[in-house]
Amino acid sequence: MYDAGYVRLFYDAYGRCEWERLEGSVAGRLKAIVHADFIRRYVGRGDRVLDAGCGPGRFTVTAAELGASVTALDLSEGQLELAKATVAEAGVSNAVEAFVAGDIADLSMFADGRFDVVVCYGGALSYVCERRHAAAAELVRVVRPGGLLLASVMSRLGTMATLVRRPQMYVLEDPVGWHVWQVAKHGDLPGFPTPEMDLEHPAMHMYTSNELRGLLPGCEVVDMAGSNVTTSGESSAPDEILDSPEAWATAVELERTLNRRPGLVDSGTHLIMVARKNTD
Ligand SMILES: C[S@@+](CC[C@H](N)C(=O)[O-])C[C@H]1O[C@@H](n2cnc3c(N)ncnc32)[C@H](O)[C@@H]1O
Repeated sequence: MYDAGYVRLFYDAYGRCEWERLEGSVAGRLKAIVHADFIRRYVGRGDRVLDAGCGPGRFTVTAAELGASVTALDLSEGQLELAKATVAEAGVSNAVEAFVAGDIADLSMFADGRFDVVVCYGGALSYVCERRHAAAAELVRVVRPGGLLLASVMSRLGTMATLVRRPQMYVLEDPVGWHVWQVAKHGDLPGFPTPEMDLEHPAMHMYTSNELRGLLPGCEVVDMAGSNVTTSGESSAPDEILDSPEAWATAVELERTLNRRPGLVDSGTHLIMVARKNTD
């Protein structure tokens, strides 16, 4: 069940770990690059952009640097404070219209069609669990007809492909085994322990690409890819390749080459979708 108060508490406490999630490791760095690729492809100068679930502001900055006018929204005041600092450090504060504490399930502070592009990356649409259709309708409502939505959510099959390699998976009393069956049955992953902190990770809904395709009402899907299709589970390249410019360039090229292939889209950690709101 979606628990906004708990998600807020978790991300307030998670703090800078959310920034570091996309730094330092091959998987994290690839995730940042692939997600930024889509913003660079679909956001243009002068666009009014909502970065919904902005976290510490990484992609707020990407859109602002492209000349967009960005509104950054998050449930967590702690993440919004980090986003303000990231934006200031990048020297793009003038391009950010507002930092708003809010929930994607209720965007009533924004008029219909207020934005040209809505970006909702990294799973806010996963955290809202059973309220995902209401949240999707809100995200669509605030985009103008003909405008774009860029969403990324946790991948159900990619997560399962990783978990099924763990031996505990075959012991049903083990938490890993139990969790993977919950995901397999209906995509709902209950809260689970996190190594970095005392709090459990919040519950999430994990999507298949087919399910994600049907999520945004009154929109046409124009692009879709997986994120981290080359780095799921044990197949991930060792982090030492970050020290070798040639090896790292190869890793990035491989991910970009493969992540739209129909057989691989579902195999990564996240799914990225671009959809255009219908004009009629
Ligand atoms: C995994 S982080 C992603 C941050 C950023 N979009 C990125 O991709 O780097 C998820 C963020 O979504 C926020 N979030 C989760 N549920 C939300 C909701 N219902 N409404 C707004 N923000 C939410 C969290 O507070 C957190 O900052």
